[in-house]
Amino acid sequence: MKIKTSILSLILLGAASVCALAQPAAKAGSHTTYIRAGHLFDSTSDTVRDNVVIVVTGDRIQSVVPAASFTVPAGSTVIDLSKSTVLPGLIDCHTHMAARADRYDEIYRFKDTPFSAAFAAVVHANKTLEAGFTSVRDVGSPPFMAVDLRNSINEGLIPGPRIVASGPGISITGGHGDLNNYSPQTRVTMFPEEHDYHIADGADQIRHVVRSQIKYGVDVIKIMASGGVLSKGDSPGAPQYTLEELKAAAEEAHMAGRKIAAHAHGAQGMKNAILAGIDSIEHASLIDDEVIRLAKEHGTYLVMDIYNDDYILGKAIEFGLPKENVEKERMVGQRQRESFERAVKAGLKMAFGTDAGVYPHGDNAKQFFYMVKFGMTPAQAIRAATSSAADLIGRSKDVGTIEPGKFADIIAVSGDPMQDVRALENVGFVMKGGLVVKDNITAKSAR
Ligand code: ARG
Repeated sequence: MKIKTSILSLILLGAASVCALAQPAAKAGSHTTYIRAGHLFDSTSDTVRDNVVIVVTGDRIQSVVPAASFTVPAGSTVIDLSKSTVLPGLIDCHTHMAARADRYDEIYRFKDTPFSAAFAAVVHANKTLEAGFTSVRDVGSPPFMAVDLRNSINEGLIPGPRIVASGPGISITGGHGDLNNYSPQTRVTMFPEEHDYHIADGADQIRHVVRSQIKYGVDVIKIMASGGVLSKGDSPGAPQYTLEELKAAAEEAHMAGRKIAAHAHGAQGMKNAILAGIDSIEHASLIDDEVIRLAKEHGTYLVMDIYNDDYILGKAIEFGLPKENVEKERMVGQRQRESFERAVKAGLKMAFGTDAGVYPHGDNAKQFFYMVKFGMTPAQAIRAATSSAADLIGRSKDVGTIEPGKFADIIAVSGDPMQDVRALENVGFVMKGGLVVKDNITAKSAR
């Protein structure tokens, strides 16, 4: 088995180097490009500036200057976005790049292989980038697909956003991440050696799993602190893991310089996660006053996937979502949106995250409409998906705003997102690290 595996990796390596030769990884070099922005929302404040020039050298932003006081040197490369609104590349803090939104029938658990998931992830990465999301955090991936996807994108082998990669979500036996809920005589393992990668009971097993995930290259740890909607036999409101167990997980992650995200719908699970020192609460559906007080006190981010409900109660049912999960969604969907509104009013830290993969990748921006409907201004919603998201993922030095020194991750839309945030559903221009990856805007302008 060992020998077979290494022969397979040699073949794959060989194939990869042939590809690399045929299509060398694009590099930004040190070329300077001048972007004329008609309107700029740079995400350092809630305001829009008109008529600026963004100077991009290599993969970074060199300066941002008023167009009126700046002469673009003759013969230089100019990108004319003078009729558009220009923004920082968007960031989605909750995605599952390998997950498919048309796979709700349980049968796929027995039929799909890690290879088919990985091929799908390549397509999803491209769709996500084209939709204007230049960074994503993957918070739940087969071991260790998101790590490999991140590496392959960084190598320039395939197009995609910058990826902050987790391993599989760490779960109690029978919890939200334990998909083996068949009869006791039926043994279904999600992954080989699953106790090394994601099922852990007790602080010692948790430490082992966190350490082994870090050994295999994850950037972030994901742990399940309550039951879920799309899992079988557990309740979204019920806590999973004790405070002590969550503390062990957070301590291990932080010792290794990693952030840790906790899935939690129920209030008790959220409280445990906050008190354990976890960096973000994912879903946060059933918030109460104490959760609000604790999150404020600890500076914990909330990442609330409030678009999901539409898709789960629509298409997912068509794709065979079992009744149990539909019922659980009916219990939390609307309450999560109300919780979102309360969290916004309370001024909690919030970062954009959608659970992409539950609904189709590339539709991430559909959530902005709901964020505004449930209490945010368009500027707040955009900052949740740029500057705040960058802060949560620990990448503020590189991404999240349009400022000198940051990566030139820049998008543009034709409409005015400050008037109608749905303009972000049609991103016409995408630059990642100084390279244009999509442009349906300047081609149409006078130039
Ligand atoms: N992955 C989540 C879970 O299974 C999805 C929750 C989706 N529902 C929602 N209203 N956000 O628990």
